[in-house]
Amino acid sequence: MSNSIESVLVETRVFPPPASAVQGATISGMDAYRALVAQAERDPNAFWARLAREHLQWTKPFTQVLDESKAPFYRWFGDGELNVSANCLEAQIAQGKGDKVAIIFEADDGKVDKITYSQLLVRVSRFANGLKSLGYKLGDRAIIYMPMSIEAVVAMQACARLGVIHSVVFGGFSAKSLQERIVDVGASLVITADEQMRGGKAIALKPAVEEALAMGGCEAVRRVVVYKRTGAKVDWTEGRDLWMHDVEAGQPDVCTPTPVNAEHPLFILYTSGSTGKPKGVQHSSAGYLLWSALTVKWTFDSRDSDVFWCTADVGWVTGHTYITYGPLACGLTQVMFEGVPTYPDSGRFWDMIARHKVSVFYTAPTAIRSLIKACEGNPKTHPRNYALDCLRIIGSVGEPINPEAWMWYYKNVGRERCPIVDTWWQTETGGHMITPLPGATPLKPGSCTLPLPGISAAIVDETGEDVPSGSGGFLVMKRPWPAMIRTIWGDPDRFIKSYFPPELKGYYLAGDGAQRDADGYFWIMGRIDDVLNVSGHRLGTMEVESALVAHEMVAEAAVVGRPDDTTGEAVVAFVVLKRSRPEGDEAKAIAQQLRDWVAKEIGPIAKPRDIRFGDNLPKTRSGKIMRRLLRVVAKGETITQDVSTLENPAILEQLSKSL
Ligand code: WTA
Repeated sequence: MSNSIESVLVETRVFPPPASAVQGATISGMDAYRALVAQAERDPNAFWARLAREHLQWTKPFTQVLDESKAPFYRWFGDGELNVSANCLEAQIAQGKGDKVAIIFEADDGKVDKITYSQLLVRVSRFANGLKSLGYKLGDRAIIYMPMSIEAVVAMQACARLGVIHSVVFGGFSAKSLQERIVDVGASLVITADEQMRGGKAIALKPAVEEALAMGGCEAVRRVVVYKRTGAKVDWTEGRDLWMHDVEAGQPDVCTPTPVNAEHPLFILYTSGSTGKPKGVQHSSAGYLLWSALTVKWTFDSRDSDVFWCTADVGWVTGHTYITYGPLACGLTQVMFEGVPTYPDSGRFWDMIARHKVSVFYTAPTAIRSLIKACEGNPKTHPRNYALDCLRIIGSVGEPINPEAWMWYYKNVGRERCPIVDTWWQTETGGHMITPLPGATPLKPGSCTLPLPGISAAIVDETGEDVPSGSGGFLVMKRPWPAMIRTIWGDPDRFIKSYFPPELKGYYLAGDGAQRDADGYFWIMGRIDDVLNVSGHRLGTMEVESALVAHEMVAEAAVVGRPDDTTGEAVVAFVVLKRSRPEGDEAKAIAQQLRDWVAKEIGPIAKPRDIRFGDNLPKTRSGKIMRRLLRVVAKGETITQDVSTLENPAILEQLSKSL
């Protein structure tokens, strides 16, 4: 927690919400926002209890709201019971939405499939019944390793229906990463697909499952259920492997949802921390679902007539909250997309928005930045060439959005009439925390603006004291909130260490540095720990280092992030080999080998952009690697810091040259 945060508060532009966005909004105008904030502050329990009664359907009403007796292991609505899937499906159908389209699915090749709420309930129920007949029940763990598909939503919802705890692993992760998660979560079920399609290419999934299971430690896995996406030939283990359509076949259309305790874990999602292996972030059922639904209603000011589109993958938290759970719990029609924004060309997003009449669009800064670049090269794909007047609200998530990208998005996609909701949140927070409200908050490009009602975000110093506005500090939440992480699966000590360090007075430590300006607006300055944000994906530098040193040629490695115009940050690795330092073509060839190795160990997203070989790494006399200096070297900047504490200052020169 020692990195200094530089001041960037130079933005002076302010964009008040257009009258059309204020009128009729769920939270309309700043006074309405302030009134809710005040309500939450005055009596948090009454505030949350009212919302939980209004927005969720309970099979057994709760009588307790927040239980702090085992803080920071907070419990919310702890004696209540409900079923998440019933809230997303039956509750909507009961409101007359049975024939409403729940998901408009567009495949990589452009083929469109639509499924209504009633049809989705039937698919989820049949699949859940199938899983039940295989013996799966409340509390079992299932790994889901699937492409973006209606089937992925069916799989997640079916788990939720039975109280089976799911853990989705992003399809871009390697067999090794998959195996680690299967082992850590103790999965007895794996749901996957033969292949996935992205950008016209088939990418195998089932073979990665085979490879993961063969690595050992996965003996608890009794069944592998496979969604047939492409029909590719796959290896098959009789007695263990089943096609998803066979699991559904012949099953009754009705599956009584299993009521679960409010605190029953709905899912575990792995995310990178600054040390060690990825952490299994455990979420609750009721608190999580409440916040998923509420934030869809507040942040996206959702209306029954909306067509909502979140471009995230269900393998990340954004896809959980803003595809599988939130939009369904609000009875919305949403678009779900299998492919990539640049195929068949970089106008794909704009074309899809126009064709499906998307009114709320939610994507990541990295996508926006890459599309800005792409349409400079191919003006045909510029958003101005598409009918985007259907858009009402546009959003951003995953990393800070730089003001230039914000302005481009605002002008060219939002046509200066759609508020941008720049939503700050994390896997651990379950849903949005700091974000503009489209019908209330004046926008400043690059700021995620103000905390949602009920969220006590603050910026503090090392001792937990509030810092004055304009100075940097640690972003914390002073009070618990219903959708917060409950623990790290199997590692409660690490949960406390990571998020509730004793010196911070029991506040939740987000791991981001931030500042507030004179208007109280939050400006996120990036991580304060060794976590990188590459294309909006979290990556621990330690994870990449461990992958590198696991290679037989590598003696030592240090990984840092370098700012990147498109991906936000890029991975730069400094490597010492066991043999002598390679040069020229040989160095390039080894670097390529190491990149492929990292892709195999973690996944392609973790591949170092730049690898540099040294005879050694810059270390203090006590042997500590000076990552601070490596960050400067990675940027190609000259070192102005004092290097007198270095054991071997000459090494910096050697490491400053890229291959
Ligand atoms: C970063 C993704 C600035 C931040 C939902 C956080 C952001 C990490 C924003 C969480 C934003 C996310 N502005 N930074 N609007 N949204 N971040 O767990 O560093 O994948 O801690 O959750 O992304 O990433 P995660």
